Amino acid sequence: MTLDLDRPFLRQALLDWYATSGRTLPWRQTQDAYAIWVSEIMLQQTQVKTVIPYYQRWLTQFPTIAVLAAADQQQVLKVWQGLGYYARARNLHRAAQEIIQKFGEHFPADLEAVLALPGIGRTTAGGILSAAFNQPLPILDGNVKRVLARLIALENPPHKALSQLWQLSSQLLDPDHARDFNQALMDLGATVCTPKSPACLLCPWQPACRAYQLNRQTQLPMTETRSPLPHKQIGVAVIWNNQGLILIDRRRQEGLLGGLWEFPGGKIEPGETVEACIKREIQEELGIEIAVAIASSP
Ligand code: ADE
Repeated sequence: MTLDLDRPFLRQALLDWYATSGRTLPWRQTQDAYAIWVSEIMLQQTQVKTVIPYYQRWLTQFPTIAVLAAADQQQVLKVWQGLGYYARARNLHRAAQEIIQKFGEHFPADLEAVLALPGIGRTTAGGILSAAFNQPLPILDGNVKRVLARLIALENPPHKALSQLWQLSSQLLDPDHARDFNQALMDLGATVCTPKSPACLLCPWQPACRAYQLNRQTQLPMTETRSPLPHKQIGVAVIWNNQGLILIDRRRQEGLLGGLWEFPGGKIEPGETVEACIKREIQEELGIEIAVAIASSP
């Protein structure tokens, strides 16, 4: 792909905008690769304002990779509680143990080593290594895909043009200012080039933006068709014995909410009542017979 974009202009305009309009965020006040890694994992599926208090609590509880590696998984999941997508916390914990084993106490600065850690893909690796070590590595998260798709008026949904977008992110990146350039690109997507009503009049890239020139900024990027969220009806039981002890169980490590505790139960089969589902699930999973009474609402 040959770029007929004005790279010197785009770089300078974005960096100038960032110097005056970039956000002050806690993970930008440090060059500790561990802290930056934690922030990037939290930010994968969660908004900045939700992440900030979790990020601060996490670093108080687990100030170094060694402390995290030595912690109990329950303690790790407890600090993550409420952020969702718990595989992220389990992967951080496992990766910390791998780092201690393979590299000593320090987060690796080598791209291949970082990509081999659980929970780290190409954009997270680029985000960490550019922010921590100023390495000239591109990023391509959801916000960046939208910004770049508009910049070139991409006529495909971004997920169908990933290699083109990666190439663009890499070619635009200012190799002398990788840290600030990537952070700026994320801020531009989060605060100006927003999904519904982008603030094009405030945008440093407006003079070069193809979507703006074509007045197609609210139609682009093309939407990605998503499979609908699965919806399951489940029966769940609060079971106690004659000493008043309540039975809870721990979910398998793999899959949704892995490693977390829950009241036992399972999916209601077609035509099954909640009572029958609960009796069957408890018999199948734990081999015990229970008497079921449905709690009435007050
Ligand atoms: N989203 C992902 N990484 C981010 C960062 N470093 N700052 C703000 N938002 C982000």
